[in-house]
Amino acid sequence: MKTLIQYLEETDAADDLKKIILALAGAFSDISDSVRRSDGKKVSTENDFGEQQLELDVVADNILLGAMKETGVVGFVASEEVAMGSQLEGGKYAVVHDPLDGSSLVDVNLSVGTIVGVYETLELLGAKGDDQVASVVAVYGPRTSMFLTVGDGTHYFVLGEGGEFVLQKEGLSVGGGKMFAPGNLRACSERQDYLDLVNYWIKEQYTLRYSGGMVPDVGQIMLKGKGIFSYPGYGDAPDGKLRLVFECAPMAFLMEQAGGSASDGKMRILDKKIDSFDQRTPVFIGSSEEVKRCEDMLS
Ligand code: F6P
Repeated sequence: MKTLIQYLEETDAADDLKKIILALAGAFSDISDSVRRSDGKKVSTENDFGEQQLELDVVADNILLGAMKETGVVGFVASEEVAMGSQLEGGKYAVVHDPLDGSSLVDVNLSVGTIVGVYETLELLGAKGDDQVASVVAVYGPRTSMFLTVGDGTHYFVLGEGGEFVLQKEGLSVGGGKMFAPGNLRACSERQDYLDLVNYWIKEQYTLRYSGGMVPDVGQIMLKGKGIFSYPGYGDAPDGKLRLVFECAPMAFLMEQAGGSASDGKMRILDKKIDSFDQRTPVFIGSSEEVKRCEDMLS
């Protein structure tokens, strides 16, 4: 069994990047403990986007900021909770994250996760998801696990008894297969094209696997090696709800490194230029043939 440390020793990743990944792993372990102890209550504060926070959102955000500060190599951290970001001293890496994606699922005991993108530049506006040098996503479910890419494939680690992440699946591979996680079905009320797409999947007898949390919903596609997650926009929110920087770009990097694809319906998510931290994007992510079907069927 290979530990995360042993895996990193074998990669070509820069030493400073390895430091960041190990610090993230430690933070995930701490967040996992907090999730297990939490009562899922809301606090009376709002994040920088005016959305109500859970106490846990704030706790997870602070854990990650503290961990990134300690590395000494991170110069900027921004998150869904503190979008304007924190400048740190001395580092050339920027770390962007959604500290607890799907946190409203904690009170009903469904899986939640942390999504992280790492850039080797402090200038994120104007950069693209393609500029990420690592993407790391933690899942807090029956087990605590982690998807990681430093650009040499996507690998899956599980937090073991000894408190260390252990490599469980090396080189995840996403191909074809009939599984779907159709988000934002509300859009079908206005969009005939999305209704037609979802009806195609239903008529072709795809298996529905949708939890309402992007992390477990996309994570299962990478682990089962098949499927599609969709979250289109409609009406007043033509770009949907999910954020490019904190959610879609890191997920897209992991998915592409696992052999799948991620598109906004017209272009690769990783080719999209970052205009603002609040930028939303429709997203279709999973097996390449399903992503192509989305592009073909949606106007
Ligand atoms: O961005 C948070 C999130 O919970 C995602 O994890 C999930 O895919 C999405 O929102 C679900 O949103 P809704 O239930 O509002 O369609």
